[in-house]
Amino acid sequence: MKGLKGKRVLITGASSGIGAGMARVLAREGCRLVLHFNRNQAGIENTLKVVTNLGAEAVVLQSDFCLLDNLDAFFEQAWRAFDGLDGLVNNAGLVSKTTALKDAKGIQFMETLKVNLHAPYLLSTAFAQACIIAKQPGAIVNNSSIHGQATCEWFSAYAASKAGLDAISKVQAVEWGVHQIRVNVLAPGVVPVERTKPILSQPEMAKKWHDKIPSGRYGTTEEMGEATAYLLSDATAWMTGSVLTLDGGLIARGNYPSR
Ligand SMILES: NC(=O)c1ccc[n+]([C@@H]2O[C@H](COP(=O)([O-])OP(=O)(O)OC[C@H]3O[C@@H](n4cnc5c(N)ncnc54)[C@H](OP(=O)(O)O)[C@@H]3O)[C@@H](O)[C@H]2O)c1
Repeated sequence: MKGLKGKRVLITGASSGIGAGMARVLAREGCRLVLHFNRNQAGIENTLKVVTNLGAEAVVLQSDFCLLDNLDAFFEQAWRAFDGLDGLVNNAGLVSKTTALKDAKGIQFMETLKVNLHAPYLLSTAFAQACIIAKQPGAIVNNSSIHGQATCEWFSAYAASKAGLDAISKVQAVEWGVHQIRVNVLAPGVVPVERTKPILSQPEMAKKWHDKIPSGRYGTTEEMGEATAYLLSDATAWMTGSVLTLDGGLIARGNYPSR
């Protein structure tokens, strides 16, 4: 992808799933990577092995994004790893499922907002400040979800966090455009990952979803990685404040009965 080779990129949540797919694709594109994880040590070691086998330089950093006070120190370490960063991918996220009645005190609600919204807000701001001081451009990709646009029962906390992420991405794009810092959103549909594969691969579940998805299949972590590479590359140099939805047409379809 245009202009990606050699770029220094921090990917949060690179220990599994979509983040690991992003790391794989960006490594292939010649990026230098700062790979973040929280608890999944085996997962991040595997991602590190994959990207180094592809010839990428990479370092690993741990941080729990529930501990928001630690994020400044985490970001400074990430920035120092390759003497600066050109890109930030806010991918780490909690896919929390609860209802307002079950989570009446909003405990899970607040935890979800911390990891999915407050942490990306703080990391993006630290990234923008560092780019401005270094007088360099930057590109941010926020991994949101189709739940930011169309949602369903069980997802009040998750959908609020992703709709909020879509909104702050647009505001930050507007505020930081003058500094040549771009902020775009990736909004994936259903992408089987280690966490969800056991359920989504059950034939009756797969049929249910495939019937609803116009393209007739789930997405892949590879496709999410390719879209992230596109958003970080110079091919999208004039794109900022946009939401790129990759869902096989799921939410374009609406809730109409099948014909
Ligand atoms: N898979 C899908 O169908 C889908 C669809 C739309 C959007 N997304 C979004 O894609 C992103 C990645 O999700 P995934 O599906 O790939 O799931 P996943 O494999 O469970 O990955 C989640 C990542 O987030 C990290 N994380 C979770 N809690 C954290 C915390 N408190 N502090 C720091 N990091 C934390 C995890 O780190 P550790 O495991 O190392 O603790 C892991 O690396 C999420 O933002 C999710 O909302 C996924």
